Amino acid sequence: MLSEHDNELLTRIGPGTPMGTLLRRFWIPVLLTEELPEPDGEPVAVRIMGEDLVAYKDTNGKVGLLDGYCAHRHAHLYWSRNEECGLRCTYHGWKYDTEGNCIDMPNEPAESNFKDKIKINSYPTREWGGAIWAYMGPPELMPPELPQFEWARVADNQRIITKRLQESNWAQAVEGGIDSSHISFLHGGKPPAIANLPENQTVSTRDTSPRFWISHRDFGFAAAARRNAPEEQYYWRITPYLAPWYTIIPGGAAENRSLSGHAWVPIDDTHVFTFTMTWNPSRPITDEERETHLKGFGVHTEVDKVMPRWELKISNGYTPIRNMSNNYMVDFEERRLRTFTGIKGISEQDMSIQESMWPMVPRWKEHLGTTDKAIIEFRKLVMGMARDLLEGKEPEFPHTPDAYRVRSAAVTIGRDIAWEEGSAEVMKARV
Ligand code: FES
Ligand SMILES: [Fe+2]
Repeated sequence: MLSEHDNELLTRIGPGTPMGTLLRRFWIPVLLTEELPEPDGEPVAVRIMGEDLVAYKDTNGKVGLLDGYCAHRHAHLYWSRNEECGLRCTYHGWKYDTEGNCIDMPNEPAESNFKDKIKINSYPTREWGGAIWAYMGPPELMPPELPQFEWARVADNQRIITKRLQESNWAQAVEGGIDSSHISFLHGGKPPAIANLPENQTVSTRDTSPRFWISHRDFGFAAAARRNAPEEQYYWRITPYLAPWYTIIPGGAAENRSLSGHAWVPIDDTHVFTFTMTWNPSRPITDEERETHLKGFGVHTEVDKVMPRWELKISNGYTPIRNMSNNYMVDFEERRLRTFTGIKGISEQDMSIQESMWPMVPRWKEHLGTTDKAIIEFRKLVMGMARDLLEGKEPEFPHTPDAYRVRSAAVTIGRDIAWEEGSAEVMKARV
């Protein structure tokens, strides 16, 4: 349970807020590279961290991420022309380079030096791992290296990366990602299947009340859920939470296993882009796997990429096909007969819950139990960092990029073995 005051601290991410200031110390994935496929292509309007921005790839392939509005009369630069190394506003022709400098002002007299006084805000960008990243914090504190996620380090053909728009605050989305006890319910079969689970659920998730442990790491923490398994063993599902908003879904122990993870990037206080990554460290993703994932019934979601969301100042909406406005196409018959929710798709099941909690969870109304350890830990960690920063203490996670080379795990080990030890090898990224 949080006080209303602390809930504000956790959830508000606009410029100048304590959490917004903290999150801007990290490199932020803002777009998929597929959104800016070529030099001089069309610009993209995007809202990130409560700021309306425009992104474009200039003639030389350099990505600019600028204030979304023209300095002249506040026209949105989504409508501008991307040509000859700059974005030219289509209202009166002012033109901006990737640093936001006004480099041409054709509606002013040729002898005027007015343009030299005009500059709009811009953020440094990198293109890596299928995403365009931005750094939105103080320039002198920019981490030189991006977090070294295995999903970003593998070759492009070994990765699927998608995104979807979610109508909720970022923090409750992260909390959904580290909430390990919901999988036996929300993503499971129909009751009374909880007592008598269907074939497709593993023996090990039949224990519906796991116990939880947390281990702090230099990427954030590892949350371990322990369930009883036969033959004097425990089944451990270990979810890394990587500051400030990444998780890796627990699954498997094989060295060449495919893994999936998420990033929840705030659009504003009440919307978030969920990036989903699936990767295989040792081979390309097959066409069949890609097709299955992109159908969107698993962790990836079927979306309408191009429908704009102008109420949010976003040109590529990436809005899920099954969404709040159509009740996620729930099938109540299906819910009576087969599944716990009647909603198709793991992410849509998550969305139906996370969006239902109000755009921002009123955390002072909650009653957290023993399975909510990871959620409590997440709040402590990010709120602690935000408070520290208010007192001048910089966060360390943006500067430990190699610590992010980590995997999730799902392992069955003897009851006498400590989980940190029993999972250490399995949690190392190989790429
Ligand atoms: S509003 Fe952009 S040039 Fe006038
Ligand atoms: Fe889930």
